[in-house]
Amino acid sequence: MAERVTIRPYRDEDLGDVLDLLGLALGESPLLQRTPALFAWKHLDNPFGRSIMLVAEADGEVVGFRAMMRWELVGSNGGTVRCVRPVDTATHPGYRRRGIFRRLTLEALEIASSNGTQLVFNTPNRHSAAGYSTMGWVEVGPIGVLIRPSLRLLQRPNREAKIPQPDDLIQYSSPLDDLTPLRRHNRGLTTLRDTTYLNWRFARHPTARYSLVGNGDGRAVLRPNLRRGRRELVISDIFGSQPGVAARAVRRSGRADYLVASFQRGTPERAALVRAGLLPIPGLRALTLYVRPLGALPFDVTSMSAWDLALSDVELL
Ligand SMILES: CC(C)(COP(=O)(O)OP(=O)(O)OC[C@H]1O[C@@H](n2cnc3c(N)ncnc32)[C@H](O)[C@@H]1OP(=O)(O)O)[C@@H](O)C(=O)NCCC(=O)NCCS
Repeated sequence: MAERVTIRPYRDEDLGDVLDLLGLALGESPLLQRTPALFAWKHLDNPFGRSIMLVAEADGEVVGFRAMMRWELVGSNGGTVRCVRPVDTATHPGYRRRGIFRRLTLEALEIASSNGTQLVFNTPNRHSAAGYSTMGWVEVGPIGVLIRPSLRLLQRPNREAKIPQPDDLIQYSSPLDDLTPLRRHNRGLTTLRDTTYLNWRFARHPTARYSLVGNGDGRAVLRPNLRRGRRELVISDIFGSQPGVAARAVRRSGRADYLVASFQRGTPERAALVRAGLLPIPGLRALTLYVRPLGALPFDVTSMSAWDLALSDVELL
């Protein structure tokens, strides 16, 4: 059966079939809708370039899809690392375990490699992680989270509630009109944050609504969310030389059931958030980081200590 499956580059006219397949295989949530707008934001309008996209076709039907977003990380030495991030992948339920995901992924890797990509990184779910491990991916480790619960958690969760908007959960927030990449010197691999990136990542996201608190010394980028009927306020990123200013502003203005963030051990943002009452929750991982180097790199990318990630680096919401 697998012999009849052909792999070819994605074409614009495949969009409807691909969105149907992603919806069928992965489902959708209010923030992660399988819409042309979200697809375009992710795969066509990304400032690092158009994604590598392949489809698998059988009997004229799209039965598999594979996308790898282009990305650029900057290392602690200031050097840029050209990356791809395998994100959306799906095989039609009637065609699974026939090697389609493997063929799509290996072919996309070859394209990435021939374009000078040095590193592949992603945070796969448990369905695909097993497959990546058989194709040379290495598990780096969990991306742990910090949480600050509020007394509102004692109330019943409301699973019927709508996703909150910034004004519902944040007092004194400002719109995203001043996204200057004022970030401290990075301690490890992190996204190259320039103004174009920040505008795309936060201001132009088709479904997630971001807001800012703090001032020029320390600013937090916040995203309200609903998880299992709980109103969470995601601290997606922190900018500025004084993260304590940002952390205190979040605490003062947040009206959510809980705050959640992820900054790595040893970073000033993490220290500031811990001082503001956010606690690491052992065993609770947001996501698990996997890598596959495509060439020699001056960092040990398989060690978490080589990375300096915020939630905005790993989530695509
Ligand atoms: C994950 C998914 C893309 C795999 O597609 P597939 O075409 O069936 O995968 P392949 O046949 O190429 O499998 C390659 C390897 O992945 C692993 N694998 C795939 N499906 C697996 C499963 N259900 N359980 C355990 N391992 C699995 C195996 O190691 C497999 O190699 P093997 O068959 O030689 O043992 C498919 O199950 C899917 O669409 N799932 C829902 C969507 C999803 O979760 N996507 C990933 C997140 S973006």
